[in-house]
Amino acid sequence: MRETIKAPELTPVEQQALEHVWIHTARWLDLAERDGLRVIIRGEGCRLIDAQGRTYLDGISGLYLVNVGHGRAEIGEAMARQARELAYASSATYTSLPAVQLADVLSGITPGDLNRIFLCSGGSEAVESAMKIAKQIQVMRGFPKRYKVIARLGGYHGSTFGAMSITSSRNEAYFGPFMPGVSFVPSPNRYRPTFGLQGEAEDLRCADAVEQEIVAQGPEYVAAVIGEPVSVSNNNHVPSPKYWKRLREICDKHGVLLIMDEVINGFGRTGRMFAAEHFGVVPDLMTMAKGLSSGYAPIAAVAVSDRAFEEFKRKDVGLAHLLTFGGQAVACAAALKNIEILQRENLAQRSAERGDYLLRRLESLRAHPTVGDVRGLGLLCAVELVQDKRTKEPFGWGPPAANHPFSRRLMALMTERGLLSRVFMSIQVAPPLVVSNEEIDRIVSIIDESLAVAEREFEFA
Ligand SMILES: Cc1ncc(COP(=O)(O)O)c(C=O)c1O
Repeated sequence: MRETIKAPELTPVEQQALEHVWIHTARWLDLAERDGLRVIIRGEGCRLIDAQGRTYLDGISGLYLVNVGHGRAEIGEAMARQARELAYASSATYTSLPAVQLADVLSGITPGDLNRIFLCSGGSEAVESAMKIAKQIQVMRGFPKRYKVIARLGGYHGSTFGAMSITSSRNEAYFGPFMPGVSFVPSPNRYRPTFGLQGEAEDLRCADAVEQEIVAQGPEYVAAVIGEPVSVSNNNHVPSPKYWKRLREICDKHGVLLIMDEVINGFGRTGRMFAAEHFGVVPDLMTMAKGLSSGYAPIAAVAVSDRAFEEFKRKDVGLAHLLTFGGQAVACAAALKNIEILQRENLAQRSAERGDYLLRRLESLRAHPTVGDVRGLGLLCAVELVQDKRTKEPFGWGPPAANHPFSRRLMALMTERGLLSRVFMSIQVAPPLVVSNEEIDRIVSIIDESLAVAEREFEFA
């Protein structure tokens, strides 16, 4: 029998939250009646404490971003110093000292010639900006018809209109019609291969599908191809480096700009500063957000290659795009201190090492009847759930899998046991990069116990 959930007595702040806060995607009854409301009060390292005084392990780094861990006082101090000195200077017409310093640091740590930095406030904004930059570059290069964008099935690029339009799980019923000129191609998935091939051959076939789509759309109409190096929304498949190398060649051959969306992957998450480094590829544009400030301030960026920026110099034309909060000085100070910590504590390397340990520990979950696959890169791991290991039948496709009663129950059981994570087609495990082996052991044992209870309740053998 399913355990019944008793919502605790609400504290005053929880009562206020229920009355006024729009918790973005939460369902009303989950908050009001099913013990789904969490007002987080404090954080330290990988731990969070809520208004009830309950402690949780943060298995998802907030939302894949608190890379340096919670409670870093020195970031707060850097922000306070900057706010006292100067909080804001318009990035549309001038710039500020911390914005210059941050652009300089980002040029240094991003791969290849990604030396021109456009600052903005969040991942969706970075993606919107990257698409507009790509389209303007194409026009300035003399290709005014190149407006189409090719994205990948299963990918996620954000919730604002343009970014949503290139996200394959976009909600047609609520928000269609979308931005015109978007098409989707299969992305590497060795567990459920679209083309029925094995390993690298499947990855390369997916790269060829991008070329076929460019040709089908007409290369003279295609502005850009966008993809996440390792896509969380597509359950963390890790392609062969040859996949990205081939995409690079295909884009060059057809005059299409390659955008790598490193909003989640960047800043050490996958065990390198940027995931592009694993694949030895330099995109024309790279979007980044999340780990750029580890969530201490809302800040994001698009890094643009020298070659792509060249046209703006030659034609002496400004970008037809501006954002008031782009390069906000206090947010830049937070990002600078955050990157200093990432480098000082060698957290990308630590992510690689702890990620290996985490993946090894997660492998033990394969014994569960509902665990179909385990994979990941660095501290960006996924445990894919199935109803039947033989047929690989999932609990739903894409984000709706989160609404399956099994996924919902599993999520509740993990939360009750003190682990914050996400469950859709996979259980997502992406703790702060400062996570210890003991904390990893605890994360895995909570998932193990919760799976066992849910499987018993739903009668999986
Ligand atoms: C790959 C990717 N791109 C873009 C976004 C959008 O970022 P934001 O939610 O900061 O707008 C996300 C968010 O999770 C993401 O994962």
